[in-house]
Amino acid sequence: MTPDQVKPDRDAPIGIFDSGFGGLTVLRAVVDQLPEEDIIYLGDTARAPYGEKTIAEVREYALECLDHLVDLGVKALVIACNSASSAVLRDARERYSVPVIDVILPAARRTVGATRTGQVGVICTEATATSRSYDDAFIAAPQIHLKTQACPRFVEFVEDGITGGPELLGVAREYLAPLQAADIDTLILGCTHYPLLTGPLSYLLGDSVTLVSSADECAKATYARLTALDLLHTPRAANGHRRQQGRRRFLTTGNPERFEGIGRRLIGDLVADVEQFS
Ligand code: DGL
Repeated sequence: MTPDQVKPDRDAPIGIFDSGFGGLTVLRAVVDQLPEEDIIYLGDTARAPYGEKTIAEVREYALECLDHLVDLGVKALVIACNSASSAVLRDARERYSVPVIDVILPAARRTVGATRTGQVGVICTEATATSRSYDDAFIAAPQIHLKTQACPRFVEFVEDGITGGPELLGVAREYLAPLQAADIDTLILGCTHYPLLTGPLSYLLGDSVTLVSSADECAKATYARLTALDLLHTPRAANGHRRQQGRRRFLTTGNPERFEGIGRRLIGDLVADVEQFS
């Protein structure tokens, strides 16, 4: 948002967009940090996964979805997908009058503060790896030596509800081997599905490697941005001892029952009353 733009309504919802389900990890972190905010979540499950598509395709789909959220009157856009952030971040900032928060820059900023040795790994989809968006994010931090590893099978595991067990550990071991050989001390979970694999990843890497979740960092950046722009929701009246929760609306371009089933498996009963959106 530039100074000459009209200030959005502080009581309007936050729009969170992802290719499908991974962005639910961002939603959960936003709900934890900003419980009073109304949220509209849009998952483009009909066209997911984005991670296997070209950057040009991801760009077209992502801008279409973000346009829909803006038409629904959101006060801020959260691009809760690394592949989509890689494809549209610059365009989105120019295109929309509401603030745009992505997953890549907040994770990169956290990483600069977290690493002791400068040896950093990022695991992500093929689309994010090809875009080199994390390399761009560290351009002003020459002390960071970044090693990128695409992990195409992780999204499929998570969506099948497999977040541990021998098969996943075997695949993860292979993906992590080059990063361990590079002696990384910090690993960026550069796909919003991967926070659900925190257990196996930290089990394999051990305590000396710090994991940076692009989902958590994105939620912190959302809090910071709304606070700085004076766009936090008007405090809701207290209901007894319970703080009032915001309303959450879930839209999918795919099948709503499937979205609700997988969504609940991933983040529990926050996901409800999913609507079809086309
Ligand atoms: N959520 C996407 C990301 O963070 C990955 C899922 C997909 O491939 O659509 O990159």
